[in-house]
Amino acid sequence: MTVQNTSGNPLDQAARDVLLGNDRGGYTIPTARLYPYQWNWDSMFSAWGYASFDMERAWQEVHLLFASQWDTGMVPHIIFHKVDPDYFPGPKVWGATHEPPTSGISQPPVAATLIRKMYEMDPEASLPHIKTLYPKLVAWHDWWIRERCKDGPVAIIHPWESGRDNCPDWDLGMEGVPVNEDDPYLRRDTTHVKETERPQKWDYDRYLAILAFGRSVNWDDREMVENGPFLMADPGISFVLLRAFSDLIALGELLGEETAGLQAQESKLRAGLDKMWNAEKGWFDAYDMRTGRFANILGSGAFLAYFAGVSRPAQDAHFARIWDKVSYGIPSADPDSERFEPRRYWRGPTWPVVNSLIAMGLKDMGRTEAEARLRDETARLIEKSGFWEYYDPMDGTPCGGASFGWTAAVWLTWCGQGRAAQRAGKE
Ligand code: GLC
Repeated sequence: MTVQNTSGNPLDQAARDVLLGNDRGGYTIPTARLYPYQWNWDSMFSAWGYASFDMERAWQEVHLLFASQWDTGMVPHIIFHKVDPDYFPGPKVWGATHEPPTSGISQPPVAATLIRKMYEMDPEASLPHIKTLYPKLVAWHDWWIRERCKDGPVAIIHPWESGRDNCPDWDLGMEGVPVNEDDPYLRRDTTHVKETERPQKWDYDRYLAILAFGRSVNWDDREMVENGPFLMADPGISFVLLRAFSDLIALGELLGEETAGLQAQESKLRAGLDKMWNAEKGWFDAYDMRTGRFANILGSGAFLAYFAGVSRPAQDAHFARIWDKVSYGIPSADPDSERFEPRRYWRGPTWPVVNSLIAMGLKDMGRTEAEARLRDETARLIEKSGFWEYYDPMDGTPCGGASFGWTAAVWLTWCGQGRAAQRAGKE
């Protein structure tokens, strides 16, 4: 089913063109050159975006992602459909053994939530797809609880698993990662995008050291968790997973499935949230699982609490404080921290995709004014500069990759909605 553009906003068509331009035949790359493969959560956002104009294409994206699910239930963070020298580290460095090759870690499990959104957009067309995907979703969620939630919250074995690669949350754990100086490598990302907007060599040295360990143990989850060089509890994924459980349970009920097991897993995860509560600071904080030490840094991962319907007054106050410090959306790190860098990837910039998740939570919690403000600020970034990967939260400068899939997707499904009519009303 393809729906024609009737909104009269040229940005709607431009957003569809970004998705279609990044389509590589059944899967959608985040952006050409910088990210030329299928990425897990990007792909789910692309599917949500397609659902606004082509439901069949949307479901194709999801099925192809889940076709690469491992026997353990894990759904990998990258699927290397066609080897592309523009990206490093490729399948060889990952030591990938699957076909098509994949990475050995996962990414924030937004699938159940976005699948439920797609169902609401077209129940009849969606139901048969949900029937097929449901057991795979259950297996993936089971994997998270079994392999990543030993201490309660979700622990990540590599910063890339969080989806917020170089955010200051991981500095503490990364300091303890031994670097192999005899293993030279050539980054490709800095040939596509300004170096000042990317993670530093310090980060990459450690990303690759963790990757070398993972490869040496064939990405065995137990080995990674028990003996790997990095293990930190992540508020961001913990909240995404908590929200995902409630959406998965709703999908299960729709299909008439028994959901008691999922409900027990959800309760267990919820009970573990307190471990991430840094009472001294008044926010949900990442911590190093080996030492129990808090990261002592506030970032957008903590504000995904809203996405899971969780709020605490002390953290709400920080939310108001940091939002008022910037002009556009929620910054990925605290502007009052000395580690804040407004243009360096996850160390300060605002990401439309994360704003969309925070907004979804605010809306469900009835905080409609905050949701409208976040939607408006994000839409203005896109109206000013187009569909970039992320933006400087102070002055709105577009950063990173251009023609970015998930930014186009959240325009179509969230912040661009009704924008033409609203603007016409204001003029
Ligand atoms: C970066 C981001 C991650 C995203 C990927 C592809 O690694 O940190 O969240 O999925 O790029 O866009």
